[in-house]
Amino acid sequence: MSAAQPLLTVDNLKKYFIRTKGFRKRVIGTVKAVDDASFHIDPGETLALVGESGSGKTTLGRSIIRAIEPTSGDIVYDFGGTKTDLTALDKRELKEFRRHLSIVFQDPFSSLNPRMNVMEIVGEPLVNYHAVKNRRQLADRVAELLDLVRLNPQYMARYPHAFSGGQRQRIAVARALALNPKFVVADEPVSALDVSVQAQVLNLLKELQARLDLTYLFVGHNLAVIEYVANRTAVMYVGRIAELGDTDEVFRNPLHPYTEALLSAVPKGDPDAARDRIVLTGDPADPANRPSGCFFHPRCRYAQKICREQEPPLNDFPSHGRQHLSACHFASELSLVGTGRGEPVAKAEARKSEAPTNRPGENGAGEKEAPITDG
Ligand SMILES: Nc1ncnc2c1ncn2[C@@H]1O[C@H](COP(=O)(O)OP(=O)(O)OP(=O)(O)O)[C@@H](O)[C@H]1O
Ligand SMILES: [Mg+2]
Repeated sequence: MSAAQPLLTVDNLKKYFIRTKGFRKRVIGTVKAVDDASFHIDPGETLALVGESGSGKTTLGRSIIRAIEPTSGDIVYDFGGTKTDLTALDKRELKEFRRHLSIVFQDPFSSLNPRMNVMEIVGEPLVNYHAVKNRRQLADRVAELLDLVRLNPQYMARYPHAFSGGQRQRIAVARALALNPKFVVADEPVSALDVSVQAQVLNLLKELQARLDLTYLFVGHNLAVIEYVANRTAVMYVGRIAELGDTDEVFRNPLHPYTEALLSAVPKGDPDAARDRIVLTGDPADPANRPSGCFFHPRCRYAQKICREQEPPLNDFPSHGRQHLSACHFASELSLVGTGRGEPVAKAEARKSEAPTNRPGENGAGEKEAPITDG
């Protein structure tokens, strides 16, 4: 995988929001939601973004497809040798290029327009991009897409309210794939779903990735989910990448105290393990008013003088020839604790949630919640 050129290369990406107050919109601060993020994503892989609420994951995910305008930085897509700098495109060029990029949102209850039926929802991008010539072609393509996400094409005339959460998310996935995109941002695609259907949707996303040669940026909170889906993981803290490496390495041998603290909060299924839990005191720093030095230092149990004074660079500590980045002054000195050598948390959790369910929603069935009503 690493032999190929990256599908996406992001350099020094920044997204700042100006915070204003009152009706005169007096500027009271700058929210540095994403600050100087640089990374790449290889073709066919899943890069996960993890971090506490407000760390900038959604902002980063949306900026790299220009769903929101980045403040500065380079975003270069390479589709088989043809490079496109996304930030250099004008409005018309951007619309044309955006057909290759897609997004799946967290909440399938608010992301699907309740007044549109499935045919209209899934077919909308096809109509917008004139990808079909007539209604017949539209219906055929929508049926194909529903089949792809294992929903019965006969449900095409129904409205979102007639579907369960998992089914709605599959409708959202069908819509996201309508134009055969190459790159998909999945922003917490299963966080709003019942645990019992999370694994179905995750498995569907994995299966579609292999079948359609998709590359994913996967935003998530749940480390078990991330370990299950992601080849590499980036940990974000207050708009900055704190750590980035192969998921296995980041989970087993974390190189940043923030990662260690996040990992220690994952339930280990062993009551004694609770004693090892590192309690993250205080809230994440405010991206509009960041601490001096390392942004994590006020919450870090290893913090030294240098951490309060100097911001650590994101350095590479390669393992087995693979990149492993950490922005910690003491990355090479600390022996941080990861998830250990036992069964990875995700596998155990995925087994638990997969076990009692049927095949992922065959013909729309297989989910216990909200049965299909007449539509
Ligand atoms: N449109 C906006 N205007 C002003 N500030 C914003 C805007 N969108 C996001 N922010 C701020 O940017 C920071 C990052 O927000 P973002 O939504 O990207 O975080 P996140 O990591 O996705 O969080 P969550 O896990 O809650 O989804 C937050 O401080 C947020 O308040
Ligand atoms: Mg978010």
